[in-house]
Amino acid sequence: MLLLRAVAGRRLPLPPLPRSRCPRAGAASFARGSAPGAGGRGRAAPVLAALLGLGAVLAYGERRRRAAQAAQASPAPRYPLYTREEVGRHRSPPDRVWVTHGTEVFDITDFVELHPGGPEKILLAAGGALEPFWALYAVHQQPHVLELLHEYKVGELSPEEAAAPVPAAEDPFAGDPPRHPGLRINSQKPFNAEPPPELLAERILTPNELFFVRNHLPVPAVDAESYRLRVEGPGGRELSLSLQDLRTRFPKHEVTATLQCAGNRRAEMSRVRPVKGLDWDIGAISTARWGGARLRDVLLHAGFGEERDGEWHVCFEGLDTDVGGSPYGASIPYRKAVSPDGDVLLAYEMNGAELPRDHGFPLRAVVPGVVGARNVKWLRRVAVSPAESPSHWQQNDYKGFAPCVDWDTVDYSGAPAIQELPVQSAITHPRPGAAVPPGELTVKGYAWSGGGRGVVRVDVSLDGGRTWRVARLAGERQAPGRSWAWTLWELPVEAAGGQELEIVCKAVDSSYNVQPDTVAPIWNLRGVLSNAWHRVRVSVGP
Ligand code: MTE
Repeated sequence: MLLLRAVAGRRLPLPPLPRSRCPRAGAASFARGSAPGAGGRGRAAPVLAALLGLGAVLAYGERRRRAAQAAQASPAPRYPLYTREEVGRHRSPPDRVWVTHGTEVFDITDFVELHPGGPEKILLAAGGALEPFWALYAVHQQPHVLELLHEYKVGELSPEEAAAPVPAAEDPFAGDPPRHPGLRINSQKPFNAEPPPELLAERILTPNELFFVRNHLPVPAVDAESYRLRVEGPGGRELSLSLQDLRTRFPKHEVTATLQCAGNRRAEMSRVRPVKGLDWDIGAISTARWGGARLRDVLLHAGFGEERDGEWHVCFEGLDTDVGGSPYGASIPYRKAVSPDGDVLLAYEMNGAELPRDHGFPLRAVVPGVVGARNVKWLRRVAVSPAESPSHWQQNDYKGFAPCVDWDTVDYSGAPAIQELPVQSAITHPRPGAAVPPGELTVKGYAWSGGGRGVVRVDVSLDGGRTWRVARLAGERQAPGRSWAWTLWELPVEAAGGQELEIVCKAVDSSYNVQPDTVAPIWNLRGVLSNAWHRVRVSVGP
């Protein structure tokens, strides 16, 4: 991401400097007088050239010395003021690409093509702040990166814009946490968003800030000090545990697991026929290293046995409630909850940090291999019960139906709740509709299956499924039956110029389950379980 640093170590063509230092002068109000950018082009070119060449370090020192001298000799340049809304209008090269850092505004249009991480990555920050993206990639936290950025300065944020807007108090979502601007928002209230596809499968662990968010209700504000988890069941067994209890009285267990929402890739289903639900693209899936107490340990500690006669369930309740006071809830089979191989967690950590608010702070269930809906966030109650959770989301949602079932004929009580998800894969690079240059093209993506069934193979076709090649799988082999994390894959191919490619991928899991080839036969009115071959059409330039 935004790898400005690497520019200093590479021989790259010298970029043209910003064409206009004040392209929208009419819209700007001037802070301290006239137009900025004195000496812009003449001053910036040698600096950038030096930074791009082998003498970068020396040139950088020299530049700092001269900059210090210049600062003493001349007054600070005056820059126009812009609102965030004005900055936000500059999101693509034809409109110029602007970003902010602190209270400063930069026109980085001419740097976009030079960005070592690729233009598509730097463009994710277009029209907004750089900091959230730089925070994900430590390589940017170096003085010469800022120095380089300053050559592109065109303005400053108006003082009243520097502070974040204050949300209205009566809004139930007013207390929701701030979110990363890179997330692709499917719904603001409740908040639902997915990572941008360009960053989705870059690494096994999704950064917390970019992990997909699926909320049905406002995010509850929880005080960690007074927080208690209630654990209940038949025979009057009852426990009340503080966070400290969970951290100290049970061994910490860590699991790398992928969560996927049942609605992932729903957008493809709604293209066949309309469905009810958020239009998720391929990003309602993410992976983290979760840390917490094993649910098994807590249940055994509470006096529940390894086995129970008949079919029992563990019901979870969240602290998020609807207007009538009903909490979000879901349940999982008791045998999954107590199985030593089930790896079910009461998680308080996500990728080494405390759980972010959007992901269930201070405690959530992590049920590896099972649909996201059962991974209940903001846990307030865990109950052992002979019946599944009575919650709407267990009883009347997150179930699969035949394509012939419509809203007049649907019978939720007759269908089982989704638990383990089917095998899934998607192409993250290239993107649909992209124009790629001829030559080597690396097709990339992710693959995953529910129930701990690892991915044993990913097949890729460039001609719509007529001929196939086998992709290279990345990452370490996971334990059989406990392969909870996705597998990233890639396939380098030669793309001949002047043709259209229909790239297709399909994964095979350890039970030799494969994905269905088309969407229509698995279409269902809620648009869940959408796992047909993923198809991406691109054109190869001449
Ligand atoms: N838990 C609570 N309390 N409230 C919710 O809205 N959404 C569920 C599940 N747990 C939800 C919840 C759904 S549908 C999914 S897919 C996952 O959380 C998403 O987890 P994430 O937002 O951490 O990615």
